[in-house]
Amino acid sequence: MKSTTAVLLARRPQHTFVAEDLALGEIELPELTAGHALVRNQYMSLDPSTRGRMDPGEKQYTTNFAIGGPLDGSAIGVVVESASDLLPVGATVRHRMGWREYAVVDDVAATVCDVSVASATHWLSSLGQTGFTAYAGLFPVGKLQAGEVVLVSGAGGAVGSMAGQFARLSGAGQVIGSAGGADKCRWLLDDCGFNAVINYRESDFAAELPLAAPDGVDLFFDNVGGWQMAAAFQNMKIHGRVSMCGAISNFGTVAQPSTAVMIEMILRRITVQGFIVRDYEALRPEFEATVGGWLASGELVDRSTVFEGIANAASGLAGLLSGANAGKALVRLSD
Ligand SMILES: NC(=O)c1ccc[n+]([C@@H]2O[C@H](COP(=O)([O-])OP(=O)(O)OC[C@H]3O[C@@H](n4cnc5c(N)ncnc54)[C@H](OP(=O)(O)O)[C@@H]3O)[C@@H](O)[C@H]2O)c1
Repeated sequence: MKSTTAVLLARRPQHTFVAEDLALGEIELPELTAGHALVRNQYMSLDPSTRGRMDPGEKQYTTNFAIGGPLDGSAIGVVVESASDLLPVGATVRHRMGWREYAVVDDVAATVCDVSVASATHWLSSLGQTGFTAYAGLFPVGKLQAGEVVLVSGAGGAVGSMAGQFARLSGAGQVIGSAGGADKCRWLLDDCGFNAVINYRESDFAAELPLAAPDGVDLFFDNVGGWQMAAAFQNMKIHGRVSMCGAISNFGTVAQPSTAVMIEMILRRITVQGFIVRDYEALRPEFEATVGGWLASGELVDRSTVFEGIANAASGLAGLLSGANAGKALVRLSD
């Protein structure tokens, strides 16, 4: 096989991403050399960070896409040809060469996943970078203690729905979420075991939060930033902690809250720590054992929103950025 269909960056987005910023194209596949395998991708992950990588300015933790070049990101698929003993034909492997139907992957950057233990979609979601981000943000970063009041913004999404459930399963006293839309809120309450959920699109988050957490929040796991972050700071307990995971509202909101809210960090002696999940790789075996156990016992709900086919990947990303997904957003690329 010489080439594959891939998603290319057609142009840099003008603030709000639209599907037309991407285009389908054919890209060359490299020859199979020692240590590499050809993989037929089955599912790829849709991630907010993909939007940031379309901008011109480099981020410190990743590389940006070139105009006309293919996107990349987490994906899982089946090895169809191999020049690596580590990646045998027929194995299911997770790697970083998503946004294309076939990929030549390097065995140092690929992981064989046991699909008898969990499905391919779970290996991209609760057992993948999504779950691992929630785990890192809650435990080594957030230092969650039993009995604490935990607030998770973006709770209806991939990382947020995991963070809230991990907190519940680890003995948090109260888990409060924010999400956009009644369906997501109901799912979080009824299926994921959140104690309270604020529908920030249809109610005033800043007014609702003190009603949900009258004694304040011990640990705030922030996926959203912006106005929700500002309101959360004003409802932290003294010595509360903030685990800063993401700021997705920055992609779609022009008006941002004033930095005057930062005074709350002083008044309430709040500890704020940002994190990048890749810094916690040493914890991956512990994470997989713990979360794999919750998944196997049925205590953890892992829901995906699946967009069909590579032609729908761009609209799927636009949907994710506007809240069309509940749980993990994936694209199915083949059987
Ligand atoms: N630090 C790290 O290492 C790391 C790693 C992975 C991900 N992240 C971050 O974690 C966050 C969640 O990522 P994810 O993969 O789980 O995505 P996700 O939550 O599944 O999808 C994004 C969600 O963000 C919400 N959203 C969009 N615009 C918003 C706005 N203006 N205000 C509030 N909510 C908005 C939407 O939900 P609603 O319907 O509720 O609006 C949407 O479903 C992102 O900020 C991402 O960048 C960080």
